[in-house]
Amino acid sequence: MEKLSPEQYISEIKRMKAEKNAIILAHYYQTGDIQDIADFVGDSLALSQKAAANDADIILFAGVKFMAETAKILSPSKIVLLPDMMAGCSLADSCTPEEFKEFKKNHPGRTVITYVNSTAEIKAMSDITCTSSNAVEIVNSLPQDEKILFAPDRNLGNYILNKTGKDIVVWNGTCHVHEEFSLEAILKLKKENRDSKIIVHPECELPVRMVADFIGSTAALLQFTKSDSCKTFIIATEAGIIHQMIKLNPDKSFIPAPPRDSTCGCSECSFMKLITMEKIYSCLKKCSPEINMDNELMDKARIPIVRMLDISEKLNL
Ligand code: 13P
Ligand code: SF4
Repeated sequence: MEKLSPEQYISEIKRMKAEKNAIILAHYYQTGDIQDIADFVGDSLALSQKAAANDADIILFAGVKFMAETAKILSPSKIVLLPDMMAGCSLADSCTPEEFKEFKKNHPGRTVITYVNSTAEIKAMSDITCTSSNAVEIVNSLPQDEKILFAPDRNLGNYILNKTGKDIVVWNGTCHVHEEFSLEAILKLKKENRDSKIIVHPECELPVRMVADFIGSTAALLQFTKSDSCKTFIIATEAGIIHQMIKLNPDKSFIPAPPRDSTCGCSECSFMKLITMEKIYSCLKKCSPEINMDNELMDKARIPIVRMLDISEKLNL
């Protein structure tokens, strides 16, 4: 791959975006430089809302494959690019269509709600999708006695179950970043920073959720750091979000919660971090790799996503 300076990558990417009428959508877990060059940075819900409503001809997704697939499903006439097709998601990949079909068969008569962190095939087998921003509200929008099957994240599923008190059967999947946070290390940090608050993503395991001062999606965590008067936060989600937290609150401190076991000592999603400036540059230049899916699959997967977006719009989410 041709090597440019960081400044050259930025100016070339900006030039190509304008020339090709392309936009870059980036998730909060991307590196700071990528977030800064994006046209829109958000959590999974905001990114899918943006993917459904924009005037670009090309969407370059700085995130992982299930997010780019969701963008393509919502905007099938647009070119959707993902700079590295290996940017998958261990949580999404833990739920295969064959096993999920069996799981559904073993739990008949339940409304199937799937987290957007799932493949297009799994979405096509679902009634409604949700993100961590709207999961509780989506479940609460259904009648109290409606039985639910939730996949693939068991921690988000159990969090929703506790919040709503509904009859929910949960698929046993986890995210490799969020399940790894060390309760012991978090409590040690809290002891060293007595005035801090622990803020936690609902994909974290129960013991970590139990010591949280606040639980929410990436967007909700970011908002909490602004609205709360506390000056120091211990962050139990992927460390990329801290870039926006610092931008929003230059006077506050943010400490990433450490994982139980990690060679680099950081809490980073290895899939998210496959996206680099160089790959974005090359992808925009070649208009490849591009997300393409079977039309029938996209038509089926669109139904639960549009249902989620409609409910979210009605609830002002
Ligand atoms: P949100 O963007 O919904 O907070 O989800 C976090 C996540 O794990 C995305 O991969
Ligand atoms: Fe998947 Fe977890 Fe990475 Fe999100 S942080 S993309 S859920 S592996």
